[in-house]
Amino acid sequence: MEIQVQGQTPLYGRVEVGSSKNAILPILAASLLTDEPRKINRIPNIKDVEVITEVLSSLGVNIDQFSRSLELFGGINSNHPPYELVRQIRASFLVMGPLLARRGNVRVALPGGCAIGTRPIDLHLKGFEALGAKITMSGGDVIAKANILHGNHIYLDFPSVGATENIMMAAALAQGTTYIENAALEPEIVDLANYINSMGGKVTGAGCNVIKIEGVKKLTSTEYTPIPDRIEAGTYMLAAAATGGEVIIENIIPEHLKAITAKLIETGAEVIEGDNQIIVRREKEIKPVYIKTLPYPGFPTDMQAQFMAYLIRANGSSIVTESVFENRFMHVAELLRMGAKIKIEGRTAVIRGQKNLTAARVKATDLRAGAALLIAGLTARGSTTIMNSEHIDRGYEGIVEKFNNLGAKISRI
Ligand code: EPZ
Repeated sequence: MEIQVQGQTPLYGRVEVGSSKNAILPILAASLLTDEPRKINRIPNIKDVEVITEVLSSLGVNIDQFSRSLELFGGINSNHPPYELVRQIRASFLVMGPLLARRGNVRVALPGGCAIGTRPIDLHLKGFEALGAKITMSGGDVIAKANILHGNHIYLDFPSVGATENIMMAAALAQGTTYIENAALEPEIVDLANYINSMGGKVTGAGCNVIKIEGVKKLTSTEYTPIPDRIEAGTYMLAAAATGGEVIIENIIPEHLKAITAKLIETGAEVIEGDNQIIVRREKEIKPVYIKTLPYPGFPTDMQAQFMAYLIRANGSSIVTESVFENRFMHVAELLRMGAKIKIEGRTAVIRGQKNLTAARVKATDLRAGAALLIAGLTARGSTTIMNSEHIDRGYEGIVEKFNNLGAKISRI
């Protein structure tokens, strides 16, 4: 699929952010922890949610889809989600923790790598072993077996978001208490803990670097609304600043956007925080900045590509260091095709700012790189075509309509 972006269109108006993709995916996986009815509201219509819903159905869960919510009933009749579904989305791996907890035996295809790195899962497996599981590999699948899961102390060498989530879910039904040390601090971790607690779980400390999970015998029904998507919000903030317009982004939690707000203000943009909205505008020239991506609350790696698409028109040279993933500069080659001046040295990119970008045919390699190319296209001279735009639709609901409502001229080809 392709989208065409007409350049040099400042954005004005209001845009509403949906629920967080990276909160909903683990929350849907955690729905496997009970057979009782569970309802999740404000579900965005994005590909990743569609695939993970198919994974749950393939495991036997009955799912009623309404316009903006999902109702899940009934339990699991399989411990091995089909490979053709699992390979479509890495987050499928998050079903391993709940399946291990519920069935004591789970087999999941090792998640494929993707454009941004090999994406290992050693920390997930270290956690499962610490809880008493025996891990083996067979034909590209990971198999975990445990008659019973016992609580334990687990130290994460890196505050991995997925490992923290997977271990939290397995520990929720284990016998005894588990402590995850050096846990990820992301808001999506807190949302998952709140969801598990809404089903009767006992998770405390989420959002701090030690999370305590007291295993319970059974989890029960719930109705839950996930947090807003801070990366979708950040993407619209960057588009507003990059195009020199003024945009009100609604349904956000300003606390979750602190790092993006601080960096945008450093570049000379104006950012005004409300209770659940944020206004971004920029009239002055873009000042160059230094960015280093870090686990939350540091600058989010999921905003690195979009911020780079903004800095390519700064008045001076910026430095961007990607410290979370080993290969998250795939968007650079595409930005060079639009006339950007960027030099990569290992995990650091030096961006020499310049006034104009020229439109080109470019390729989205992952959803955030795709969003970055869209932002670059909005500021370039001429009409940019973004190929493989299905990557963008994996995580951004109605992105073409939302941008066109702000005055952009984007069309799907
Ligand atoms: C989650 O991925 C997000 N995905 C990613 O968002 C996000 O970029 C990432 O967290 C970091 O914030 C979802 O939540 C569905 P990690 P995850 O485990 O859990 C290494 C997007 O664009 N690592 O925190 O896979 C790993 O290689 C996506 O929405 C290990 O070494 O991220 C990476 O370098 C992209 N061993 C680093 O940790 C492990 O066992 C961060 O990975 C696990 C991870």
